[in-house]
Amino acid sequence: MKENKQLLLRKRPLGLPKQDTWKLVKTEIPKPNDGEFLVECEFVSLDPAMRGWINAGRSSYIPPVELNDVMRAGGVGKIIESNHENFKVGEYVYGQTGIQQYIVTDGNGWHKVDPTLAPLPMYLGTLGMPGMTAYFGILEVGELKEGDAVLVSGAAGAVGSVVGQIAKIKNCKVIGIAGGADKCKYIVDELGFDGAIDYKSDNVASKLKEYFPKGIDVYFDNVGGDILDLALSRLAMHARIVICGAISQYNNTTPIKGPSNYLSLLVNRGTMRGMVVFDYAKDYQKAAIQMGQWMMQGKLKSKEDVYEGIENFHETFLRLFSGDKKGKLVLKVSEN
Ligand SMILES: NC(=O)c1ccc[n+]([C@@H]2O[C@H](COP(=O)([O-])OP(=O)(O)OC[C@H]3O[C@@H](n4cnc5c(N)ncnc54)[C@H](OP(=O)(O)O)[C@@H]3O)[C@@H](O)[C@H]2O)c1
Repeated sequence: MKENKQLLLRKRPLGLPKQDTWKLVKTEIPKPNDGEFLVECEFVSLDPAMRGWINAGRSSYIPPVELNDVMRAGGVGKIIESNHENFKVGEYVYGQTGIQQYIVTDGNGWHKVDPTLAPLPMYLGTLGMPGMTAYFGILEVGELKEGDAVLVSGAAGAVGSVVGQIAKIKNCKVIGIAGGADKCKYIVDELGFDGAIDYKSDNVASKLKEYFPKGIDVYFDNVGGDILDLALSRLAMHARIVICGAISQYNNTTPIKGPSNYLSLLVNRGTMRGMVVFDYAKDYQKAAIQMGQWMMQGKLKSKEDVYEGIENFHETFLRLFSGDKKGKLVLKVSEN
């Protein structure tokens, strides 16, 4: 008899999560009631925001995961039993699966995905939440204009790699910041960025000076901390900074380091604006169609880095913070 493996939040971590932050349990596979369906979860999305969700208090944009609850996560899977008139057995869906192998839902907040149009993990990356973040973040919050000089951090990751490629499609000059020579080569040679800065070995300040002689028009910030401060010191007039994330600060045991160079916004009449992707939900479909077209035209590449086994959740999750992965980090939890 099959069982449902579920990953629970056992303890709130201080700093980087440890193996004992989590507890893997085996439970019975739930049964759908009227108006519900049972999903076999295949792939789950591992996202930096999950680190915020396991802090006590409202340090994220949604309430924290409670202790002993299944860890929250988006995922894709197949409907294997259904008592719901709009969701049929055999269809594939995206929703808040959590880190587990089976889930029963009433379908509220879920939508169908088509594995014949794109591989399932891509619905967690470029055609999913990170892709939408990139699209609305750079085009709407960043108010991208043709010819802008654009800087993006976390540039080889799920959001950053798409931000940079969209800016290239819009005829901008794009420089990415990433960790390590391999990722820097990847964003230039494979994704078409105009240049890369390896924040682990380059002098970021002097590279910014070299790449942006007239200043940065748009900085898309995924990392916060010192890199945000250095970008602030190199702004062009009327520059826009998109505050998308601050991964360098998520595991801090001391208060978050804020920017000290913020008066550069005053001098350059710049703006710095935060965004949460869910605010754009009503336009996701439009964006996904556009991204799909760019992919078919060979203008946008999508990369998913897929690891296997719910037992390997912890080591895989830590790759977000070590940077030991490329593109969208995904975990396969089904055992088929
Ligand atoms: N606002 C929103 O609605 C929204 C939605 C989605 C994501 N986000 C945010 O967007 C950012 C990127 O998310 P993602 O899903 O695309 O993740 P990702 O970039 O695919 O993965 C995280 C990457 O961050 C880099 N990193 C880790 N620690 C770092 C540090 N101390 N300094 C600099 N870089 C570091 C690593 O790349 P390197 O090897 O290059 O270091 C790692 O691969 C995150 O901050 C996330 O919270 C925000």
